[in-house]
Amino acid sequence: MSVEIKLRNLQKIYPDGTAALGDVSLTCPASACTALVGPSGSGKSTILKIVAGLLDSTGGSVSFGDKDVTGLPPEKRNIGMVFQSYALFPNMTVRENVEFGLMVRGVAAKECQRRALQALESVQISALANRRIRQLSGGQQQRVALARAVVFQPDILLLDEPLSALDAKIRQELRAELAQLLHQFKITAIYVTHDQEEAMALGDQVVVMDHGKIMQVGAPLEIYTRPANDFVARFIGIANLFDVDVQLDSQKAQVQMGFGALSIAANEFRARWPAIASGPAKLLCRPQDAKIVEPAQAHTKLKVTDCLFLGDRIRVTGETENGKTLRMEAHNSSQVKAGDILPVAMDLASIHLIPSAI
Ligand SMILES: Nc1ncnc2c1ncn2[C@@H]1O[C@H](COP(=O)(O)OP(=O)(O)OP(=O)(O)O)[C@@H](O)[C@H]1O
Ligand SMILES: [Mg+2]
Repeated sequence: MSVEIKLRNLQKIYPDGTAALGDVSLTCPASACTALVGPSGSGKSTILKIVAGLLDSTGGSVSFGDKDVTGLPPEKRNIGMVFQSYALFPNMTVRENVEFGLMVRGVAAKECQRRALQALESVQISALANRRIRQLSGGQQQRVALARAVVFQPDILLLDEPLSALDAKIRQELRAELAQLLHQFKITAIYVTHDQEEAMALGDQVVVMDHGKIMQVGAPLEIYTRPANDFVARFIGIANLFDVDVQLDSQKAQVQMGFGALSIAANEFRARWPAIASGPAKLLCRPQDAKIVEPAQAHTKLKVTDCLFLGDRIRVTGETENGKTLRMEAHNSSQVKAGDILPVAMDLASIHLIPSAI
């Protein structure tokens, strides 16, 4: 049965004094995938190990549903785990690897076989059941590791960078498959990655971490379009961030960018950014939200400094009239080169404002 995971005020100070987790409180909804993302050392694996019971926290509690599991050993938590190094037995067959955990728990041989095959079918590799692990590709091994984790029908699945050992192309393919499998299993999953694209593709809920603290929790679209602070804006996707000055009165908000101004009706402004008042703020504009326009509609004349062909589109980097860097995207047929001056406008419906000092 799938359960909600609740972390309350988790703290971890390692014996050498390293403070790995500040004060982490988080709810991971039942039957959904929560993706933990953040730079190296931000505390992601520490959280996962505490949820698994492999590591004791130095403060706070962990509950599964209504049950406090804080002091419970790992084998009593009914958790499946998949790690970066799959820790499969290279000389055993695929089926033996998946059956192994059931056998040592004393499950009868016939039942082991039946459940192992069912798990292998669920990850679409039952045809490879009799191959040895060393005869498999990295992606196939990853599926065996997944089958081995779900063969116990765990309540919770914990995955720590399971795709990071694979090359970019297979990683992308497996990412989509994994997303499908997780939905199919309807299991409560926590997926750890330092790859923001992977987090957004796999997470129903994304948790952005930095230095042992949660920076933001939200749906992928929310995190991407409405980051709570500069850190999240820069970590997730590509961000143009400008220091701006807001003048808000009863009629309208004027956002002075230093290279032009935006005017937004006061009602709309308050509804979109209730926490922003008159004064300094930061404006976020994603590269796809800046466009080449007719000169009369432009917010700035952008002096192109660099142009990168990305296949389906081009990424243009340029300088605004007051010398700020702006990155934007244009169709791959656009004839743009370094030195060009382009009239550029931001899409008012897509920009976002972030409080200045957090
Ligand atoms: N056994 C340990 N003893 C002391 N410090 C540790 C130990 N394990 C981890 N740390 C420290 O705790 C912090 C968080 O580590 P953690 O492994 O949770 O990071 P992470 O977000 O998983 O990073 P990565 O993306 O590199 O895997 C880091 O500063 C790390 O150096
Ligand atoms: Mg880690």
